[in-house]
Amino acid sequence: MKILVTGGAGYIESHTVIELQKAGHEPIILDNLYNASEKVISRIEAITGKRPAFYNTDIRDREGLCKVFDEEKPDAVIHFAGLKAVGESVKKPWEYYDNNITGTLTLVDVMRQHGCKNMIFSSSATVYGDPAFVPITEECPKGTCTNPYGWTKSMLEQILTDVQYADKEWNVILLRYFNPIGAHKSGTMGENPNGIPNNLMPYITQVAVGKLKELHVYGNDYDTPDGTGVRDYIHVVDLAKGHVCALKKLAPGSGLNIYNLGTGHGYSVLDIVKNFEAANGIKIPYVIDPRREGDIATCYCSAAKADKELGWKAQYDIRDMCEDSWRWQKNNPNGYDD
Ligand code: NAD
Ligand code: WQD
Repeated sequence: MKILVTGGAGYIESHTVIELQKAGHEPIILDNLYNASEKVISRIEAITGKRPAFYNTDIRDREGLCKVFDEEKPDAVIHFAGLKAVGESVKKPWEYYDNNITGTLTLVDVMRQHGCKNMIFSSSATVYGDPAFVPITEECPKGTCTNPYGWTKSMLEQILTDVQYADKEWNVILLRYFNPIGAHKSGTMGENPNGIPNNLMPYITQVAVGKLKELHVYGNDYDTPDGTGVRDYIHVVDLAKGHVCALKKLAPGSGLNIYNLGTGHGYSVLDIVKNFEAANGIKIPYVIDPRREGDIATCYCSAAKADKELGWKAQYDIRDMCEDSWRWQKNNPNGYDD
């Protein structure tokens, strides 16, 4: 199938493009390069031997999108493009709502005009808020988000649900990702955060490479086994493969489906530090700081529905995630910048 991958040069996206190519699909990358480098395209080609088509286009640019749909006639869209920095979204709510909501509304309109009504959407565990129960199943009620970024995901889920309800020609899959970490085994592709990382693993790898002095652990007084926050970390390549499995489900009449993509295991912040140290033989100095505003104690999923209905299950363990995150950082201390 020909698949338009919005945000295709990004972290999760670039790994998904590789898995799509490996599965025999033809991914087309559309990205405005706001948070990505064009070098990713050559790195994908170096790994798979196939250079994906690339359009430097913004999802809010209706004319630009129409041109891509006219030229490429994709069968389905995997819609990743969006802004994703939680803290930044609190400071720039308008920019987040404009980019993520206006962008998606424009994309959906152009899709239906071109008769392409198949979409996989990147949602997030953030829609569960402070979860009503763990492990989180897809039946767990959505919760109160603590930031505009989270609200864009929650609202977009509702928008896409309403669009599909009104027009049954649409087939929509909402994938709720837990905490993606890790990188491609080649060490040539991985996460490339701007400035000081917000997320745990890129912060740890930047401590390991000597760019940052020590890790700040946000709170050790949560109701968890060691007092630090517990999350469901998933290898980005497993996550990428989840999209390939989801495509098979995106058949005519499949309607609207929701899946959690996680491993089902919860690891604390200190578990991650210990596993990173053991996997890579590097000490990670840390200090305990107060809790970070908006954080929750525990978040991990049941991935049973994706296993049963998509035939998908995460394969990589925490050691792989720690080794691969480090290989990428070590080989590319400045990410895609030379
Ligand atoms: P990323 O920033 O690496 O990728 C997003 C890509 O979208 C970037 O390449 C960026 O340049 C592009 N983009 C942003 N706005 C655009 C626009 N208006 N037009 C065209 N391209 C645009 O982020 P990621 O971590 O790979 O996340 C991908 C998706 O998964 C996002 O929707 C994110 O919200 C979602 N998600 C991420 C996580 C996570 O922890 N990384 C967790 C849950 C969900
Ligand atoms: C993980 C744990 C922190 C950094 C965020 C978004 C969520 C989703 C994934 C997109 C927590 C602790 C972190 C640090 C720390 N993104 N931590 N020191 O908060 O689970 O989720 O990314 O949808 O929406 O909110 O991930 O990696 O930031 O934090 O102690 O320097 O590590 O408190 O317990 P989080 P994270």
